[in-house]
Amino acid sequence: MAKKRVAVLISGRGSNMAALIEAAKAPDYPAEIVLVLSNKADAGGLDTARANGIETAVVDHKAFGGDRAAFDRAMHDVLLAHKIDLVCLAGFMRLVTPEFVGLWSERMLNIHPALLPALKGLDTHRRAIEAHAAIHGATVHFVVPEMDAGPIIIQGAVAVRNDDSESALAARVLTVEHRIYPEALRLVAEGRVTVVDGRCLIDGKPVPDAGTLMPPA
Ligand code: GRF
Repeated sequence: MAKKRVAVLISGRGSNMAALIEAAKAPDYPAEIVLVLSNKADAGGLDTARANGIETAVVDHKAFGGDRAAFDRAMHDVLLAHKIDLVCLAGFMRLVTPEFVGLWSERMLNIHPALLPALKGLDTHRRAIEAHAAIHGATVHFVVPEMDAGPIIIQGAVAVRNDDSESALAARVLTVEHRIYPEALRLVAEGRVTVVDGRCLIDGKPVPDAGTLMPPA
């Protein structure tokens, strides 16, 4: 089967993007990263992408004033021009419109640094510590119009330590992110993920039964 053509959308350092690029170097990986698209020309991840010989594009949201629909259309045009099959949001810090989400329905993944549906939004690691959570982690999910929601493909968990700092916890969660994102993309690219009534099935089985829960790193 032909490899799926993937675009990774970033706004920053792009460590998840780098994990996807590394995974996709394996000959049997079912997807190839053909484009890294950023809304910021100075996103550090763009250099990493270029160093790996991957084409990059910048669609600067500021050029569109507050017109989110026009910004999303411009991104969509770039994705179409590169014949993209699947989109991975990886630290992409723009809210996308429901219209854009609809165009990429069940073909756009996101990674969120928390165990959804807990801790949507920003500063998840600080909030996990402040809430005295025992377990924290990361989630890869399909993107739906609502932010940090959508069918869960894989989650990975870490234990929160008594003396954890925000940065120490973030680093441990990031290690998990770098494991689960390539695995989630692999499953989707292999066509093994279906969405039934808002929940992902992997090989026809609900996610918790499919053996995709990652134990603590
Ligand atoms: C990650 O923690 C990701 O979960 C969140 O933003 C961060 C991006 O980090 N959505 P990086 O750019 O992939 O290093």
